[in-house]
Amino acid sequence: MLAYLPVKHLHMACAGLSISGFFVRGLLLFRKSSLLRIRGLRAVVDSVDTLLLASAIYLVVSSHQYPFVTGWVTAKLAGLFGYIGLGLLTFRFARTRTAQVSAWLAALLMAANLVATAFLKSPWGLLALWSI
Ligand code: HEM
Repeated sequence: MLAYLPVKHLHMACAGLSISGFFVRGLLLFRKSSLLRIRGLRAVVDSVDTLLLASAIYLVVSSHQYPFVTGWVTAKLAGLFGYIGLGLLTFRFARTRTAQVSAWLAALLMAANLVATAFLKSPWGLLALWSI
């Protein structure tokens, strides 16, 4: 599988970009910065997330590690839904500053858990660090 490693590196790069971008956009939101409304930002965010998901699908299919079959892949899929949901809460639906900050922090914790799940290949994610 010649393309596996480059796609995996693309996947990791998109994950890093997505999470660091989410972190920075949160800071901009809390500072009420006009940079958040910069032209093209939405398109960049959407492209990175689409590439992250597309590369995930490629890796799942070519490594034959499917959600609902392989525990840690199931955990990543569930974690991705949580990360997306908390992101929507942070930027769209949360009405108070406390709700925005709480959703942002929870999303970052969810992202850290996704990274731990990926590297440790354990559905327990960050909790699996206890058993190392
Ligand atoms: C924000 C979301 C995600 C993050 C932060 C993330 C992070 C990572 C990282 C860091 C790796 C490299 C791990 C290693 O060195 O082996 C990886 C690999 C992988 N990820 Fe993701 N990922 C995310 C979403 C997903 C989703 C939704 C799926 C599928 C349901 C997925 C499936 C995979 C697979 C199959 C691999 C390859 C593992 C291997 O080579 O054995 N990822 N991911």
